[in-house]
Amino acid sequence: MSISFWTELREKLAADPQRPRYHFLPPANWMNDPNGPLFWKGKYHIFYQHNPYAAFHGGRTGTMHWGHAFSEDLVYWKHLPVALAPTPDGPDKNGIYTGCAVDNSGVPTIIYTGVSPEVQCIATSNDDMITWKKHDRNPVIDSPPKDLEVTGFRDPCVWKEKDDWYMLIGSGIKGIGGTCLLYRSKDLIAWEYLHPLCIGDGKNTGDMWECPDFFPLGNKHVLLVSVLRRRWNPCFIGEYIDHKFQPRVQRNLDLSGNLDIGGCFYAAKSMADSRGRRILFGWILEGRSASAQWASGWSGVLSLPRMLSLHEDSTLRMEPVTELKVLRGKHYQYKNLHVTTTSSSLLKDIQGDCLEIIAQFDPEDAKEFGLKVRCAPDGTEQTLIFYNNASKSLNVNRERSSLTPEVNQYEQGGPFELASDETLKLHIFMDRSVIEVFANDQVCLTSRIYPSRTNSLGIGLFARGGSVKLKSIDIWEMRSIWE
Ligand code: FRU
Repeated sequence: MSISFWTELREKLAADPQRPRYHFLPPANWMNDPNGPLFWKGKYHIFYQHNPYAAFHGGRTGTMHWGHAFSEDLVYWKHLPVALAPTPDGPDKNGIYTGCAVDNSGVPTIIYTGVSPEVQCIATSNDDMITWKKHDRNPVIDSPPKDLEVTGFRDPCVWKEKDDWYMLIGSGIKGIGGTCLLYRSKDLIAWEYLHPLCIGDGKNTGDMWECPDFFPLGNKHVLLVSVLRRRWNPCFIGEYIDHKFQPRVQRNLDLSGNLDIGGCFYAAKSMADSRGRRILFGWILEGRSASAQWASGWSGVLSLPRMLSLHEDSTLRMEPVTELKVLRGKHYQYKNLHVTTTSSSLLKDIQGDCLEIIAQFDPEDAKEFGLKVRCAPDGTEQTLIFYNNASKSLNVNRERSSLTPEVNQYEQGGPFELASDETLKLHIFMDRSVIEVFANDQVCLTSRIYPSRTNSLGIGLFARGGSVKLKSIDIWEMRSIWE
């Protein structure tokens, strides 16, 4: 591809009103899963599934690479050269799939899945993670255990316990359910299969678990998996004893303590940093047609970093990292507004497509209440972010988000129950086509919207079937991380 092709593409991307400004995304083209997040020598490194040549995934045709970037503060990111590309005739000739990165006594090491077939490979760096060398003995695991009929065998997650390395591989046992297969090694090269860490019930939690992530949190262990074809991320919290995991079922187990109820967030991976924080990233999927992605020249966004913690009742809490506050610009605040079915006007003076919003509601008797965002002055475009008190759910209604035909319009959301005297804090990050909502730090909902009108920038409040008290709303204009 010629220089003028790339120059034109860059100009097109810079002018695209749907392209987020403070979420990380590749310089151009496709990304999906975050891979191998690693805190290394004071910097946060993130890799990601990347097709550097076009805005589509490409399956097992050798399109998948590992993109790479780092940040000193989890806010501003710098792109680095592509870390891994398929080797023609190598075990990863059809693609470098998802995996993890570890610090092996000072040697940064990537463990990833090569396709096809699905095999596990490693690569190391001796120049602080700029270039990577694949190991001569790849693949280090060339097939699943012989006595198991598996639905997949990919996305290694590796950690160390005393002198031994352990690896989980995302898998499923045919006819039974999703699982993670546990292996052990002394040197990251010779691996011994032990047993499944735990096995899910296929009917509830799917028959193939991708992208496992396993780590201690508080006095428990957390297993995150991504369920193939369902685009959701169960989060299991439980005890890790004798190298087996006993998940304790979390509130709302149909969604199993789903990490994000929007259906646009997938393949989450976490890292521990020097402050002992557990920080999670996910892939934010598009909500527009494949042809629209292809035509725009980009697809896929990384979620904002979410800090995980364990509440005293052993359920998960998720908060945006505090570092993001540096992006806050002009601030607006309103207090003590009474919102009724008839108060439908927009908040005066506030307009924007890159905003952070913190709204605190006292529910009163409204059946539904929340915010309207990206509203056109005449109401032809608008998106509703709201709590439904009857169904006890948090939702995003996109029916009128966009006049463009090639975008998803279905409502997103899921269970979220407020206790009778509980107030609702909606912490919302709007970044052009991305919406990330944190509700009481308990439930996250990520959504995509693509308003077509340049003046769809208004913000309002609404209530249906009763009233709600808005205790306060704080809104900040957000800066771009790329300028
Ligand atoms: C999850 C996933 C992984 C796989 C990767 C390929 O989105 O399907 O299981 O390694 O994407 O890009």
